[in-house]
Amino acid sequence: MKIDRPHPKIGAIANDVDVRTLSDADWKSLYDAWLDSVVLVVRGQTLTIDDFLAYSRRFGRLKPHRVKKTRHADYPELTVMGLGTRKPDGKVDKTIYDRGGGWHTDSPWDTEICKGTQLYALAIPSIGGDTLFASMYEAYDALPDTLKKRIEGLKAEHAYGGRGRRGNELLDPEDRQRPPAVHPVVRTHEETGRKSLYANPYHILRFQGLAETESEALIDELAGHMTSTPAQYRHKWQVGDIVLWDNRCALHSATGSYPIDEKRIHWRTTIMQDPAEAQRAA
Ligand code: OGA
Ligand code: MN
Repeated sequence: MKIDRPHPKIGAIANDVDVRTLSDADWKSLYDAWLDSVVLVVRGQTLTIDDFLAYSRRFGRLKPHRVKKTRHADYPELTVMGLGTRKPDGKVDKTIYDRGGGWHTDSPWDTEICKGTQLYALAIPSIGGDTLFASMYEAYDALPDTLKKRIEGLKAEHAYGGRGRRGNELLDPEDRQRPPAVHPVVRTHEETGRKSLYANPYHILRFQGLAETESEALIDELAGHMTSTPAQYRHKWQVGDIVLWDNRCALHSATGSYPIDEKRIHWRTTIMQDPAEAQRAA
């Protein structure tokens, strides 16, 4: 197994490894590379659904995604991304085509912390469809001290799709009005102990305790810092890639811009942080 780090702050790329037969020692090397690099790419895999779920489970408990209609019918813990980009009438289904677009972290609308998201590429278009990642450790570290002071102790409310409830149509009607989840804006990573910014511009509703105009202005100000960090990695997909990112300390964004009639299909798992794990790390 070979692990390359093209950027010092973000992104580790593993080659010459088969995750179906990974030893515990090699798995630990991948896990440590992931914690250090925020995004872990493993290239060149050939997996069945069972293989992908088994590998995903090595990282933690899997949780079925709140969006029920893109879950695999027989494997609720597996979401299939990119199927149905055209509706039966031939029109583009933007909720599918644009899914994952716009800087965000996954599942901040859940009260439980989502540790990682893992995608496995089954079909990739000839052009476009890259995914961007940004380190929220680096974004936090680079904040001016005055801003760090201002956001200390602040909490934010998040809901699926944020203020515009964008993509809400993907949810079943009974899931559309769930109460927001509240998380600290500056969070300390349970495993690395590093501080990061957690206020993703997409799913955030408001900062608690601030007037609406102040909250809106702070969302914009922080979004500027979060998305302009130079600690970014752009993943250009190949079929057989597995990409795992750390939702506790990264934003990501699908860039779209691929030919609508070419396929871009991924299997996806959501990996949760068990409370016991968080406590062990503390
Ligand atoms: C996701 C997501 C990005 C992409 O699966 O949560 O944002 O490029 N995906 O598909
Ligand atoms: Mn996402």
